[in-house]
Amino acid sequence: MSDLGVIILAAGEGKRMKSSLPKVLHPLGGKPLLLHPLETARSLNPKRIAIVVGHGAEAVKEICGDDGVVWVLQEKQLGTGHAVGCTREIFRNFSGDLLILSGDVPLISKESLLGLLRHHREQDAELTLLTAVLNQPSGYGRILRDEKKELVGVVEERDAVSCEKEFKEVNAGIYAASPRFLYAALRELDSNNEQGEYYLPDIVGIARKSGKPVRTVRAGDAREILGINTREELAFMERTLQERINRRWMEAGVTLKDPQTTYIEEGVTIGKDTVIGPNTHLLGKTVIGERCRIDGSAYVTNAQVANEVHLRFSVVLTDCRIAEGAIVGPFAHLRPGTSLGRGVHIGNFVETKEAIIGEGTKANHLTYLGDVTIGRQTNVGAGTITCNYDGFQKYRTTIGDRVQVGSDSTLVAPVRLGDDVYVATATTVRHDVPAGALVYNERREKARAGWTEQKRKKMKKG
Ligand code: UD1
Ligand code: MG
Repeated sequence: MSDLGVIILAAGEGKRMKSSLPKVLHPLGGKPLLLHPLETARSLNPKRIAIVVGHGAEAVKEICGDDGVVWVLQEKQLGTGHAVGCTREIFRNFSGDLLILSGDVPLISKESLLGLLRHHREQDAELTLLTAVLNQPSGYGRILRDEKKELVGVVEERDAVSCEKEFKEVNAGIYAASPRFLYAALRELDSNNEQGEYYLPDIVGIARKSGKPVRTVRAGDAREILGINTREELAFMERTLQERINRRWMEAGVTLKDPQTTYIEEGVTIGKDTVIGPNTHLLGKTVIGERCRIDGSAYVTNAQVANEVHLRFSVVLTDCRIAEGAIVGPFAHLRPGTSLGRGVHIGNFVETKEAIIGEGTKANHLTYLGDVTIGRQTNVGAGTITCNYDGFQKYRTTIGDRVQVGSDSTLVAPVRLGDDVYVATATTVRHDVPAGALVYNERREKARAGWTEQKRKKMKKG
């Protein structure tokens, strides 16, 4: 097999997106659009990958990284033909085949690209276009054929006359070409069209004029060639991608109660017999164990969740770990650095951050646990606050095993509570407490008999 070079076109502004972000950086399936064709290109092990950038070039380069990629700058976006022309110096003397991909066609598969290359080589073609038949072809360049069904050319939607717009076979914007033919043909392009641009597909006509063999290959699955030019197409693609991912997890033994509202990113893994409720987002590198229950409205990013964990309704989890059998929520917020031991219960309106919480410990109501280490079997009462910040620095609180923290207590860090400490209700703890001690604040409670009655009378008179 001869060598392979890949060109990815990504310099366009994406005018139809009406965005200040370059089109190829719009996220799809949790990563920038351009990374989809780039990763597929990499899977083919090409000798060289050149990406043509222009609009927002620096941002595109930074986000995509330059791991083995040659960046080519197209200073003015004069059209797809001009963009490919910018790679002339890189591939002019390249001996293998070139594959040209569009940065805005993300779902193209490795198999389809291999099929395109195979056909191109078998047919000894100078140029091969990937095409597809779409029920709604609007927006795409239409494939023109003569009576013998031979390819004649491609006409862009904007340049097409109305009968051409009826044609349903479209240009995918993906091509295999020989470098020698390609760079010679590009020199002959003109910009006599509605947009005043140098159109890459016009090389079809140039090839035909000089009798060079041009072929087409039909994509097996037309959905793979869909391009993204508008926000609506982006949303549609997101849904298509999500449906694929959801189907995969259901096939792997995960119950999705409402797949329509379940958003799982590609890097996530889920164990079997886990049941996921509606409106759940599992993002980043989240790992969910087996037999977990996620009631719904969960927003989970980069969390490591062990087996048999129950995430009750409406929780937000970020960069945290949860051990087997823990119960979280409803309405809990686990922030980065949270690590829950086996069987921990975190209840409603509890927020944690940099919190290492030992096996069997419970904090069930209205509590802030920040920069804290808590031992095993401790109970944190309602309304407990770790005061970790004095306006200048953050400090840690350490709480031992089997501690009872009474409701409405404030633990002013840095502070340490030994094992088996008992914090009386509504205590402000400012100093370390030795193991086994009771800690309370001296306060005398007074009740004035008849006070309310007297107050009411006074108010009435006034
Ligand atoms: C293009 C094809 C069309 C095809 C469709 C498939 C042309 C003229 N038309 O149309 O036949 O059906 O793709 O999706 O090629 N780009 C540059 N520099 C430029 C212009 C564009 O790098 O000067 C890049 C864009 O960033 C994009 C890709 O080329 O990634 C395609 O450009 P776009 O403007 O989206 O072309 P379409 O109108 O979709
Ligand atoms: Mg496009």
